[in-house]
Amino acid sequence: MTATILVGAQWGDEGKGRVADWLAAQSNVVARFAGGDNAGHTVYVGTKVYKLHLIPSGILHEQVVCVLGNGMVINPVNLVREIDELEAAGVSVTPDRLVISTRAHVITPAHIALDKASEKARGEGAIGTTLRGIGPAYLDKTGRQGIRMGQMRDVEAFADALYDGMRRANESLVHQGMEAVDAQTGTEAYLDAALRLQPYLRDTSVYLNEQLRGGATVLCEGAQGTMLDVDHGDYPYVTSSSPTSGGALMGLGFGPREVSRVVGVAKCFSTRVGSGPMPTELSGEPARRLRGTGENFWDEFGTTTGRPRRCGWFDAVQVRYAAQVNGFTEMVLTKLDILSGFDELNIAVAYELDGEQLNAAPDTLSSLERVTPVYQTMKGWTEDVSGARRWDDLPAEAQAYISRLGVLVGVPVSTVSVGPEREQLVFI
Ligand code: GDP
Ligand code: IMO
Ligand code: MG
Repeated sequence: MTATILVGAQWGDEGKGRVADWLAAQSNVVARFAGGDNAGHTVYVGTKVYKLHLIPSGILHEQVVCVLGNGMVINPVNLVREIDELEAAGVSVTPDRLVISTRAHVITPAHIALDKASEKARGEGAIGTTLRGIGPAYLDKTGRQGIRMGQMRDVEAFADALYDGMRRANESLVHQGMEAVDAQTGTEAYLDAALRLQPYLRDTSVYLNEQLRGGATVLCEGAQGTMLDVDHGDYPYVTSSSPTSGGALMGLGFGPREVSRVVGVAKCFSTRVGSGPMPTELSGEPARRLRGTGENFWDEFGTTTGRPRRCGWFDAVQVRYAAQVNGFTEMVLTKLDILSGFDELNIAVAYELDGEQLNAAPDTLSSLERVTPVYQTMKGWTEDVSGARRWDDLPAEAQAYISRLGVLVGVPVSTVSVGPEREQLVFI
């Protein structure tokens, strides 16, 4: 049993990238299993800030081989750009360091146009997607008319498939009163990307199973978060994949007996980018304090879209649900340093709906949108905790806050992150 699954316990941006960077140091293989370049994982190493979208954070460790699994949807042009940017920053991304599933699906320019059209058509009810074409690409996958990365091996046939996909999308775009995409535009960049990516393509399920059999340590690096899961999240304000632990097995192609550890990553407060319910959302000064001003790279502005993130108190009802859906064996809590200086901290311990107290979230959106949180208030601390490396270095109030979160979620907190740098971790 040598696989660890790392997933976001909230609405994404929990700090999975920085936690994966830590766990990758002890891994041989790091694999992404769901989503595409809607993800944005920021990792800080020394004086360099890396912003990763498709390639796992594990690439920053020389001994690691990275995998883009079959569960992903990949924009090949953006992938080539990311490879080039990493190479320019001195990170080797050769085919012996990155393997791409032949079964992963391709995001085309038509999918991006359809994503925009669908958001526009929803008007007020827009999801607030990242406009990367994620939803339409998964729609083509489950509609059994998608293009798989393996088709790039025959560039002429790949060009025909791209053309067919564009033609189909255009019918739909014109039907929606939107402008059609030029089937020639962008195709050339796609064909160049196909030639570049050919040496990286493999059956990654076979590869991962071989590695696991040989005793390799595999880290499955989640993207997005539990509440964005198409089944378990706040449907329809979700992404179109399964970023939860079950999705890791589906999106990589190995069995559950390989998994020894399921690590849930949550912030010490809540953030969400895009639309949808968020019971503990704050406005005004406290939200601004949690968000930051945007001057620091760790402030709460989207890595992929630059949108300010919605901020709120820690929602233990929500994270408890995530623990159940994923089967967390441990939790990592991030951004404790941001809470220094609050007189009091609130934690949602239950919800109230129509005068009744609920210990779990209702399973319909219309009810969830009407709940109000029941808060437990805890004493804050003024000390800067960013230099803490041991549990004993933390102020008593911070210890009490972390301990309380662990009890409320029902999963042991193994690690607390007190800053974005590699060594800014407290192991409990
Ligand atoms: P991901 O999508 O889950 O990988 O998270 P993002 O990278 O989108 O957002 C998390 C941000 O918080 C990044 O800029 C990290 O560098 C930063 N970060 C992670 N952990 C900490 C922490 O403990 N303290 C602070 N101040 N920043 C952190
Ligand atoms: P990481 O990996 C935060 C959100 C979008 C939108 C919804 C659907 O950095 O945690 P999509 O483009 O996927 O169809 O958008 O999901 N979303 C994310 N929010 N972090 C992410 O990734 C996200 N990926 C998608 O904002 O609400
Ligand atoms: Mg992110």
